[in-house]
Amino acid sequence: MSLLELLQKRRSVRVFDPEKPISQEEVRRCIEMATLAPNSSNMQLWQMIHLVDPKWKEPLTRACLGQSAASTAQQWVVFVTRQDLYRSRAKYILAFEKNNIATYSPESRKAKRIADREVYYGKIMPFLYGRFFRVFGLIRVLMVEVMGLFRPVVREVSESQMRAVVHKSCALAAQTFMLAMAEKGYDTCPMEGFDSKLVKKMLDLPRGTNINMIISCGIRKEEGIWGERCRVPFDQVYEIK
Ligand SMILES: Cc1cc2nc3c(=O)[nH]c(=O)nc-3n(C[C@H](O)[C@H](O)[C@H](O)COP(=O)(O)O)c2cc1C
Repeated sequence: MSLLELLQKRRSVRVFDPEKPISQEEVRRCIEMATLAPNSSNMQLWQMIHLVDPKWKEPLTRACLGQSAASTAQQWVVFVTRQDLYRSRAKYILAFEKNNIATYSPESRKAKRIADREVYYGKIMPFLYGRFFRVFGLIRVLMVEVMGLFRPVVREVSESQMRAVVHKSCALAAQTFMLAMAEKGYDTCPMEGFDSKLVKKMLDLPRGTNINMIISCGIRKEEGIWGERCRVPFDQVYEIK
């Protein structure tokens, strides 16, 4: 399938066929592909929880407000933001990048590049992702306001804005997953209509995590697609300057 065909095939499916099973292993492979999505500072502050046991159907459907996209699915993938892991992720990436630089950078640049990475992942990332009842965010906002008087700066650094940063990257992984599934001939439905408190409790998710989307998986029944695809005219979303 070409990319265009894939994009046209992917629809949000609200009713899946119980007679058509999907492979746990194939879905796992699609999740693995999802981790290739671009993401902010490569921090990979995400986790994908693959629910395969039928025992999840009843509580998950309830948490998803009884949606048929949840109740008729065979497997579900919960995309979770893991901002709480920022320290360990930064540490991991720093170690990897140091090795990358040692292997691929010209000798004359190595020391400077390693020092830059150490500041970025060792200091800036922990500073940006840290949270403490909005106080850290407020300090960051004040700092960038002052710095912004002298040079261009990234201004979205409050605690809620950093949460949005993490969600953005996680959503890109979710979309990558849905396209990978479409390529395998599988269908999906992304959902944000759920009670996050119930889902977090059900999955025993730690504090500091959030649910980005729940994606139900299966193979469509024709009535599972609600009619023609609706998109506003392209000229209303496209601007050339
Ligand atoms: C973040 C997000 C949340 C969504 N939540 C739900 C949902 O809870 N239930 C549902 O049936 N569809 C949900 N959808 C699917 C959208 O309604 C669907 O993508 C949109 O109508 C366009 O249709 P298409 O996906 O077939 O192109 C969601 C989609 C996204 C991206």
